[in-house]
Amino acid sequence: MYSLSPLFSESMDGPILADRFNPTAVSPRRLFQISENLVAKIDLRNEYTQSAINALAREHVVQTRLFDRGFCVPHSLGVFSLQIPTDTYYYRRGTIVPTHVFELVSDAIPLPSTYHLGWDTAYRLQREYDDAIRKIRSDKSFAFEPVDTGYHNGFYSPAKDTVFLCDFTLWKPKARVQRIGQAA
Ligand SMILES: Nc1ncnc2c1ncn2[C@@H]1O[C@H](COP(=O)(O)OP(=O)(O)OP(=O)(O)O)[C@@H](O)[C@H]1O
Ligand SMILES: [Mg+2]
Repeated sequence: MYSLSPLFSESMDGPILADRFNPTAVSPRRLFQISENLVAKIDLRNEYTQSAINALAREHVVQTRLFDRGFCVPHSLGVFSLQIPTDTYYYRRGTIVPTHVFELVSDAIPLPSTYHLGWDTAYRLQREYDDAIRKIRSDKSFAFEPVDTGYHNGFYSPAKDTVFLCDFTLWKPKARVQRIGQAA
């Protein structure tokens, strides 16, 4: 039996049920629309393992902290177990998997696919992404180190005219040495 993270066990009344289960256009393998405005991100290991739960829980923590600091990331609800409602190429109906549930940005365009908006616009969006990552990296009080920060992990919403950061499963907790009794 795997030990569940506190984040996860909070939602252990039973698996959540999706009222729909549509692969999203930008990430059909692991991002599924599960309701009008929510997506579920499924760990590709597709098993109920501790490491899958940890990766998804870490993403929830990083995403929430960035959101609270005013960075543009989809609002995160947490890690839940999800019962897969229909057969798909990867998943069998009825399988229960851990998922990270967060806000769907329905008009998301991955940054590497924004050139049709014009080169100037594409470069401006890339700069916005780079600036946000640089700001996070240089903030000593932020507990996680950005990892895997290519433009494929940023997307643009034309409706909100905003660049979003995404995909935080690999971000690393910074090693912090602290004496016992010393203030954080
Ligand atoms: N909340 C969201 N709403 C809409 N699209 C999103 C959202 N979050 C991420 N995406 C899109 O889905 C893509 C994949 O998401 P993410 O980077 O988190 O997973 P991944 O592990 O890299 O998946 P993949 O291997 O399918 O790229 C992102 O590049 C982004 O374009
Ligand atoms: Mg990614």
